[in-house]
Amino acid sequence: HLIPVIAIDGPSASGKGTVAARVAAALGWHYLDSGALYRLTALAVLQRGLQLDDAQQVTAVAAALDVSFLEGMILLDGEDATELIRAEAVGEAASKVAVLPSVRAALLQRQRDFARAPGLVADGRDMGSAVFPEATLKVFLTASAEERASRRYKQLIAKGESVNILQILQDIEQRDARDRARSVAPLQQLPDAHLLDTTQLSIEQAVKAVLDWWQAVS
Ligand code: C5P
Repeated sequence: HLIPVIAIDGPSASGKGTVAARVAAALGWHYLDSGALYRLTALAVLQRGLQLDDAQQVTAVAAALDVSFLEGMILLDGEDATELIRAEAVGEAASKVAVLPSVRAALLQRQRDFARAPGLVADGRDMGSAVFPEATLKVFLTASAEERASRRYKQLIAKGESVNILQILQDIEQRDARDRARSVAPLQQLPDAHLLDTTQLSIEQAVKAVLDWWQAVS
Protein backbone atom coordinates (compact mmCIF):
# COMPACT_ATOMS: atom_id res chain seq x y z
CA HIS A 1 0.00 0.00 0.00
CA LEU A 2 3.02 2.30 0.11
CA ILE A 3 2.73 4.48 -2.98
CA PRO A 4 5.92 6.39 -3.80
CA VAL A 5 5.43 10.16 -3.84
CA ILE A 6 7.74 12.90 -5.11
CA ALA A 7 6.72 16.21 -3.51
CA ILE A 8 7.78 19.37 -5.37
CA ASP A 9 7.08 22.61 -3.52
CA GLY A 10 8.07 26.15 -4.37
CA PRO A 11 6.98 29.72 -5.04
CA SER A 12 4.73 30.90 -7.86
CA ALA A 13 5.99 30.92 -11.44
CA SER A 14 9.05 28.85 -10.48
CA GLY A 15 8.30 26.31 -13.22
CA LYS A 16 7.57 23.56 -10.71
CA GLY A 17 4.36 22.58 -12.54
CA THR A 18 6.20 22.00 -15.82
CA VAL A 19 9.02 20.11 -14.11
CA ALA A 20 6.63 18.01 -11.99
CA ALA A 21 4.47 17.06 -15.00
CA ARG A 22 7.57 16.04 -17.00
CA VAL A 23 9.00 13.98 -14.15
CA ALA A 24 5.62 12.23 -13.82
CA ALA A 25 5.56 11.51 -17.57
CA ALA A 26 9.15 10.20 -17.51
CA LEU A 27 8.31 7.78 -14.67
CA GLY A 28 4.84 6.91 -15.98
CA TRP A 29 3.31 8.18 -12.71
CA HIS A 30 0.25 10.23 -11.81
CA TYR A 31 0.54 13.99 -11.42
CA LEU A 32 -1.21 16.31 -8.97
CA ASP A 33 -1.34 20.06 -9.62
CA SER A 34 -2.55 21.04 -6.15
CA GLY A 35 -2.55 24.74 -7.03
CA ALA A 36 -5.29 23.98 -9.57
CA LEU A 37 -7.59 22.92 -6.71
CA TYR A 38 -7.08 26.27 -4.94
CA ARG A 39 -7.55 28.08 -8.26
CA LEU A 40 -10.75 26.10 -8.97
CA THR A 41 -12.09 26.87 -5.50
CA ALA A 42 -11.39 30.57 -6.05
CA LEU A 43 -12.99 30.52 -9.50
CA ALA A 44 -16.10 28.74 -8.18
CA VAL A 45 -16.35 31.31 -5.36
CA LEU A 46 -16.08 34.21 -7.84
CA GLN A 47 -18.58 32.62 -10.24
CA ARG A 48 -21.10 32.25 -7.40
CA GLY A 49 -20.64 35.89 -6.43
CA LEU A 50 -19.38 34.99 -2.95
CA GLN A 51 -16.71 36.81 -0.92
CA LEU A 52 -13.18 35.34 -0.91
CA ASP A 53 -12.79 35.94 2.82
CA ASP A 54 -16.11 34.38 3.86
CA ALA A 55 -14.57 31.27 5.44
CA GLN A 56 -17.83 29.39 5.87
CA GLN A 57 -19.07 29.84 2.31
CA VAL A 58 -15.65 29.32 0.72
CA THR A 59 -15.16 26.11 2.72
CA ALA A 60 -18.57 24.82 1.59
CA VAL A 61 -17.58 25.53 -2.02
CA ALA A 62 -14.22 23.73 -1.57
CA ALA A 63 -15.87 20.70 0.04
CA ALA A 64 -18.46 20.37 -2.74
CA LEU A 65 -16.11 21.22 -5.62
CA ASP A 66 -17.26 19.40 -8.77
CA VAL A 67 -14.04 18.95 -10.74
CA SER A 68 -12.56 16.42 -13.11
CA PHE A 69 -9.09 16.21 -14.56
CA LEU A 70 -9.20 14.62 -18.02
CA GLU A 71 -6.08 14.30 -20.15
CA GLY A 72 -4.82 17.82 -19.54
CA MET A 73 -8.30 19.34 -19.45
CA ILE A 74 -9.85 20.59 -16.20
CA LEU A 75 -13.64 20.71 -15.83
CA LEU A 76 -15.45 22.76 -13.17
CA ASP A 77 -19.18 22.05 -12.81
CA GLY A 78 -18.88 20.19 -16.11
CA GLU A 79 -17.45 23.20 -17.98
CA ASP A 80 -13.94 23.65 -19.36
CA ALA A 81 -11.97 25.76 -16.86
CA THR A 82 -8.47 24.86 -18.11
CA GLU A 83 -7.59 28.36 -19.34
CA LEU A 84 -9.82 30.35 -16.97
CA ILE A 85 -8.01 29.20 -13.84
CA ARG A 86 -4.65 30.39 -15.24
CA ALA A 87 -5.68 34.06 -15.19
CA GLU A 88 -3.57 36.23 -12.88
CA ALA A 89 -6.71 37.36 -11.04
CA VAL A 90 -7.63 33.75 -10.27
CA GLY A 91 -4.10 33.00 -8.97
CA GLU A 92 -4.37 36.03 -6.74
CA ALA A 93 -7.83 34.93 -5.51
CA ALA A 94 -6.48 31.39 -4.95
CA SER A 95 -3.80 32.66 -2.61
CA LYS A 96 -6.53 34.41 -0.60
CA VAL A 97 -8.75 31.34 -0.14
CA ALA A 98 -5.59 29.29 0.57
CA VAL A 99 -4.98 31.14 3.85
CA LEU A 100 -8.21 29.68 5.31
CA PRO A 101 -7.39 26.55 7.38
CA SER A 102 -10.88 25.07 6.84
CA VAL A 103 -10.45 25.37 3.07
CA ARG A 104 -7.10 23.57 3.24
CA ALA A 105 -8.71 20.84 5.37
CA ALA A 106 -11.58 20.49 2.90
CA LEU A 107 -9.12 19.88 0.03
CA LEU A 108 -6.79 17.52 1.91
CA GLN A 109 -8.35 14.11 1.18
CA ARG A 110 -9.05 15.05 -2.43
CA GLN A 111 -5.30 15.63 -2.86
CA ARG A 112 -4.28 12.42 -1.04
CA ASP A 113 -6.59 10.42 -3.33
CA PHE A 114 -4.21 11.20 -6.21
CA ALA A 115 -1.60 8.87 -4.67
CA ARG A 116 -2.21 5.73 -6.72
CA ALA A 117 0.12 3.06 -8.14
CA PRO A 118 2.68 3.18 -9.59
CA GLY A 119 3.42 6.59 -8.01
CA LEU A 120 2.62 10.28 -7.76
CA VAL A 121 4.45 13.51 -8.47
CA ALA A 122 2.68 16.33 -6.61
CA ASP A 123 3.43 20.03 -6.86
CA GLY A 124 2.34 22.92 -4.66
CA ARG A 125 3.35 24.73 -1.48
CA ASP A 126 2.73 22.12 1.23
CA MET A 127 3.08 18.78 -0.56
CA GLY A 128 6.09 17.74 1.54
CA SER A 129 4.88 19.31 4.79
CA ALA A 130 1.12 18.76 5.12
CA VAL A 131 -0.32 16.62 2.32
CA PHE A 132 2.40 13.97 1.82
CA PRO A 133 4.78 14.35 4.79
CA GLU A 134 5.95 10.75 4.19
CA ALA A 135 6.96 11.50 0.57
CA THR A 136 9.97 9.46 -0.61
CA LEU A 137 11.60 12.51 -2.18
CA LYS A 138 11.00 16.18 -1.39
CA VAL A 139 12.19 18.99 -3.61
CA PHE A 140 12.05 22.74 -3.03
CA LEU A 141 12.10 24.22 -6.52
CA THR A 142 12.74 27.91 -6.86
CA ALA A 143 14.30 30.65 -8.99
CA SER A 144 15.04 34.32 -8.35
CA ALA A 145 11.97 36.58 -8.32
CA GLU A 146 13.31 38.43 -11.38
CA GLU A 147 13.75 35.20 -13.35
CA ARG A 148 10.25 34.02 -12.36
CA ALA A 149 8.76 37.36 -13.39
CA SER A 150 10.53 37.21 -16.73
CA ARG A 151 9.30 33.63 -17.39
CA ARG A 152 5.72 34.62 -16.53
CA TYR A 153 6.08 37.74 -18.71
CA LYS A 154 7.14 35.68 -21.75
CA GLN A 155 4.26 33.24 -21.20
CA LEU A 156 1.69 36.05 -21.08
CA ILE A 157 3.18 37.85 -24.09
CA ALA A 158 3.05 34.57 -26.04
CA LYS A 159 -0.65 34.38 -25.16
CA GLY A 160 -1.11 37.84 -26.63
CA GLU A 161 -1.80 39.57 -23.30
CA SER A 162 -0.55 43.09 -22.73
CA VAL A 163 1.43 43.02 -19.52
CA ASN A 164 3.87 45.09 -17.51
CA ILE A 165 6.97 43.28 -16.22
CA LEU A 166 7.20 45.41 -13.06
CA GLN A 167 3.57 44.72 -12.25
CA ILE A 168 4.22 41.00 -12.67
CA LEU A 169 7.27 41.16 -10.40
CA GLN A 170 5.21 42.97 -7.75
CA ASP A 171 2.36 40.45 -8.02
CA ILE A 172 4.78 37.53 -7.67
CA GLU A 173 6.47 39.05 -4.62
CA GLN A 174 3.11 39.82 -3.02
CA ARG A 175 1.81 36.29 -3.62
CA ASP A 176 5.02 34.73 -2.24
CA ALA A 177 4.80 36.91 0.85
CA ARG A 178 1.20 35.79 1.46
CA ASP A 179 2.09 32.12 0.90
CA ARG A 180 5.08 32.31 3.27
CA ALA A 181 3.40 34.33 6.01
CA ARG A 182 0.21 32.32 6.51
CA SER A 183 -0.06 30.36 9.73
CA VAL A 184 -1.27 27.07 8.24
CA ALA A 185 0.91 25.14 5.78
CA PRO A 186 3.08 28.08 4.72
CA LEU A 187 5.47 27.87 1.81
CA GLN A 188 8.83 26.84 3.29
CA GLN A 189 11.91 24.86 2.45
CA LEU A 190 11.82 21.78 4.67
CA PRO A 191 15.07 20.52 6.23
CA ASP A 192 14.63 17.20 4.37
CA ALA A 193 13.94 18.79 0.96
CA HIS A 194 16.51 19.02 -1.84
CA LEU A 195 16.97 22.61 -3.01
CA LEU A 196 16.62 23.01 -6.78
CA ASP A 197 17.41 26.58 -7.86
CA THR A 198 16.43 26.77 -11.53
CA THR A 199 17.45 30.41 -12.11
CA GLN A 200 20.24 29.23 -14.44
CA LEU A 201 18.78 25.85 -15.44
CA SER A 202 16.78 24.70 -18.45
CA ILE A 203 13.61 22.66 -17.91
CA GLU A 204 15.50 19.55 -19.09
CA GLN A 205 18.27 20.12 -16.55
CA ALA A 206 15.76 20.61 -13.75
CA VAL A 207 13.86 17.43 -14.71
CA LYS A 208 17.13 15.49 -14.81
CA ALA A 209 18.11 16.72 -11.34
CA VAL A 210 14.84 15.43 -9.87
CA LEU A 211 15.11 12.08 -11.70
CA ASP A 212 18.73 11.68 -10.48
CA TRP A 213 17.68 12.32 -6.86
CA TRP A 214 14.82 9.86 -7.29
CA GLN A 215 17.22 7.18 -8.58
CA ALA A 216 19.49 7.80 -5.62
CA VAL A 217 16.73 7.23 -3.04
CA SER A 218 14.72 4.50 -4.74
O1 C5P B 1 0.78 26.90 -7.82
P1 C5P B 1 -0.27 27.91 -8.19
O2 C5P B 1 0.28 29.25 -8.54
O3 C5P B 1 -1.22 27.39 -9.21
O4 C5P B 1 -1.13 28.11 -6.85
C1 C5P B 1 -2.07 29.15 -6.72
C2 C5P B 1 -2.17 29.53 -5.25
O5 C5P B 1 -2.75 28.45 -4.51
C3 C5P B 1 -0.82 29.78 -4.57
O6 C5P B 1 -0.41 31.14 -4.64
C4 C5P B 1 -1.07 29.39 -3.12
O7 C5P B 1 -1.60 30.47 -2.38
C5 C5P B 1 -2.15 28.32 -3.23
N1 C5P B 1 -1.63 26.99 -3.03
C6 C5P B 1 -1.49 26.53 -1.74
N2 C5P B 1 -1.07 25.25 -1.51
C7 C5P B 1 -0.76 24.44 -2.53
C8 C5P B 1 -0.86 24.91 -3.86
C9 C5P B 1 -1.28 26.20 -4.09
O8 C5P B 1 -1.74 27.25 -0.80
N3 C5P B 1 -0.38 23.20 -2.26
